[in-house]
Amino acid sequence: MRRILHIDASYSDESSASRVLSQVFIAAWKDSHPEDVIFYRDLGRFPVPYINETWIAAIHSLPETHTPEMVEALKVSDPLLEEFLAVDAYVLGVPMYGFTIPATLKAYIEHLIRIGRTYEVTEQGVQGLVHGKKALFITSRGGNYPPGSPFGKDHQEPYLRTIFWSFGITDVQFVNAGNLVLGDRKQSIATAQAHLQMLAAQW
Ligand SMILES: Cc1cc2nc3c(=O)[nH]c(=O)nc-3n(C[C@H](O)[C@H](O)[C@H](O)COP(=O)(O)O)c2cc1C
Repeated sequence: MRRILHIDASYSDESSASRVLSQVFIAAWKDSHPEDVIFYRDLGRFPVPYINETWIAAIHSLPETHTPEMVEALKVSDPLLEEFLAVDAYVLGVPMYGFTIPATLKAYIEHLIRIGRTYEVTEQGVQGLVHGKKALFITSRGGNYPPGSPFGKDHQEPYLRTIFWSFGITDVQFVNAGNLVLGDRKQSIATAQAHLQMLAAQW
């Protein structure tokens, strides 16, 4: 039995391509792995608060020195971190906004940047502490950014690869549905859907 954390980040409703595609994958996954447990987090509809000065002070000090405000700041944050650490795999539906990820997802990720829990800093630099997990990113983009596109456009996939790498998660896959605005949206979704259905049997 594996635990999967399924996250959607689009602000849009059910017509969102990344929502549709992440759900296609999860449905296919459930069919072939009925014993697995899926946890769901909808960051588009239920955003998490931004971290703030109190949060930063709290994570850099001993719990016994925490003020009531620091305790409060970690009340939201700690369960997000524990949930992230408790699962075996991640499936994220991520739209591209402004060539990168939505602010909702960035706000969530900031709660996970916890020294001593998700990463540490050694003489060799940043070392991830979250091992043995894998991630599938299902992205939706208005344009298309194939490998080799000029530098400076796709800040979504490189960012997600880097931040998950910093946590120690390097077994990552991307299914990018591109050209949803500039090209044939239906075709692009259908291609990604077929890919995801195949992937659900092998991932
Ligand atoms: C605020 C906003 C910013 C966007 N920025 C980009 C962008 O930089 N590049 C791009 O290719 N598409 C961009 N798009 C188009 C979306 O990536 C596209 O509509 C995608 O389908 C959104 O994902 P969703 O359908 O899962 O909500 C943007 C859309 C919105 C709403």
